[in-house]
Amino acid sequence: MKVHTPAVDHDAIARAVKVLERGGLVALPTETVYGLAADATNEAAVRSIFAAKGRPADHPVIVHVADARAIDEWSRNAPPAAYALAQAFWPGPLTLVLQRSGRVSDVVTGGQDTVGLRAPGHPWAQAVLQALGRPVAAPSANRFGRVSPTTADHVRADLGVKPGGAVDLILDGGPCPVGIESTIVDLTGDQPRLLRQGSISRSDLERVLGRAVAAPDAAAPRVSGSLERHYAPRTPLELVAQEALADWLQRSRAKSLAVLAPPAVLAAWPGKPSPHFALTAAGSEKEYARTLYANLRALDAAGADRIVVVAPPLGERWLPIHDRLLRARAGSRTDDSTTELD
Ligand code: TXA
Ligand code: MG
Repeated sequence: MKVHTPAVDHDAIARAVKVLERGGLVALPTETVYGLAADATNEAAVRSIFAAKGRPADHPVIVHVADARAIDEWSRNAPPAAYALAQAFWPGPLTLVLQRSGRVSDVVTGGQDTVGLRAPGHPWAQAVLQALGRPVAAPSANRFGRVSPTTADHVRADLGVKPGGAVDLILDGGPCPVGIESTIVDLTGDQPRLLRQGSISRSDLERVLGRAVAAPDAAAPRVSGSLERHYAPRTPLELVAQEALADWLQRSRAKSLAVLAPPAVLAAWPGKPSPHFALTAAGSEKEYARTLYANLRALDAAGADRIVVVAPPLGERWLPIHDRLLRARAGSRTDDSTTELD
């Protein structure tokens, strides 16, 4: 299915720019997920992002820039790999971690000496950046620890608009066409290292760079997306292989199930209970990713006592999806309250 991105509403963009200029918060669509944006050069404004999300202040936020010309302004000693990747994938769902320049505030980087830069490809996000004339700092526009928003309604439900809510303005630019957060690659070490998987894969990066990119590493710098509990629905979520489903049903004490599974599995459900609420899993990884967070929200809202996701296919293109599902499973477990959330 094609996603419809509405034509850019320039009046709405002008209102958003006014809000950003006076230090306010704007939720804006990007191609990956909705971001909660503040003027990256206004420390008080960036600080208010953390308050709105309920996020610890030492977590760095991505600086969203209009294009690759920003690399020299907002980072220093950028290696050739940064320009090559920007040339290949910007504007698009790729974040480059580089040494920060003196212009980047500690509030943005959480006190680290690196900065994450991304030029988003969504026309509404681009319009805001062009009209504002400087970068915006923006994490995903969800409360800390919850599933990222892929529609304006998700943001409204999660953060809300002032005075009752946390955001000054929500720009509705339609559902996000990619649906999962950007790929993050750290270019500050000897070898490029993947910090978060997104729709741009490790081999996509390696193809452009002509060299190996290291896999995500438990000891990697603070990427909150790499913390265990993340992307979490409130209902406990189980990820079950199709072959193991009959067994799982037999052993489970769950009385009502909200299920995300391929149509063939739903049509021949191998045991009891039958799904109380069911969503059909997409067969392509692009469509699966695009609908994933909306599906997790719908499954969570179904009021079942378990969410069951029948594991999607394996293979590199499906890795970022497995990654999000594993985190959703980890985060939905209430037995562990010590792990950090983002
Ligand atoms: O697709 C995306 O990246 C979305 C859209 C809005 O652009 N943004 C997003 O932001 O997912 P957030 O804050 O939810 O996740 C960004 C991740 C965080 O885990 C943060 O720790 C990491 O990027 N990050 C940001 N700057 C970093 C840095 N300098 N070094 C290491 N990790 C960094
Ligand atoms: Mg996030």
